[in-house]
Amino acid sequence: MKKIIVAIDGFSSCGKSTMAKDLAREIQYIYIDSGAMYRAVTLYCLRHRLFLPNGEVNAPSLEKEMGRIRVSFRLNPETHAPETFLNDENVEKDIRTMEVSAMVSPVSAIPFVRTALVAAQQEMGKEKGIVMDGRDIGTTVFPHAELKIFVTASPEIRAQRRYEELKAKGQKADYEAILENVRQRDYIDQHRETSPLRRAEDAILLDNSHMSIEEQKEWLLQQYHKATQE
Ligand code: DC
Repeated sequence: MKKIIVAIDGFSSCGKSTMAKDLAREIQYIYIDSGAMYRAVTLYCLRHRLFLPNGEVNAPSLEKEMGRIRVSFRLNPETHAPETFLNDENVEKDIRTMEVSAMVSPVSAIPFVRTALVAAQQEMGKEKGIVMDGRDIGTTVFPHAELKIFVTASPEIRAQRRYEELKAKGQKADYEAILENVRQRDYIDQHRETSPLRRAEDAILLDNSHMSIEEQKEWLLQQYHKATQE
């Protein structure tokens, strides 16, 4: 069967990565979480003190170091889940903290960061057979992707999901703070100058506010079968 590119975009915390990961496993495609790449660069900035006291990024310093930042993915041999590596260090857990979530938007709004990460993402998709999720996959990274999905859900439902995710991992979680972070990121993601979050004209819209993970999985698999038959 011909291999395609599946691009899944949408708002933060609306279950994109769960559905993308499930689909990739089912159809034996590579799964790439592009948000993890922006998170890894943010972690690098936090560790190297590249944030200014006003919360902005020290862009000239980051630009000089950008060539030294390598983000890659490796499969965990036990769970078979892909994990994020920053310069060969497994940072899968470190990139999911509230600290990184709170600082990732300004980093992902920087044009040279996007240029570098988009180029790396396009390289990963060269052979097709890939499911990638993010904000600009169907619009900028793979405008010719054979299947594009744009996922959305209400901010309250998304905050609740992230809250439960953090709790399940034994991390600290405050629902109101998470909801505020979700709203802020929606705003910044949609209003930044470079590659703002928007639905590609040919993307299929999915509002999963009231769908179970199983229902979503089934729906997405159907879309995949349709796209590969066309
Ligand atoms: O999907 P996520 O919440 O892990 O993404 C983290 C941040 O990265 C999010 O605030 C927006 C940014 N991002 C982006 O700008 N472009 C992408 N393709 C993926 C994520």
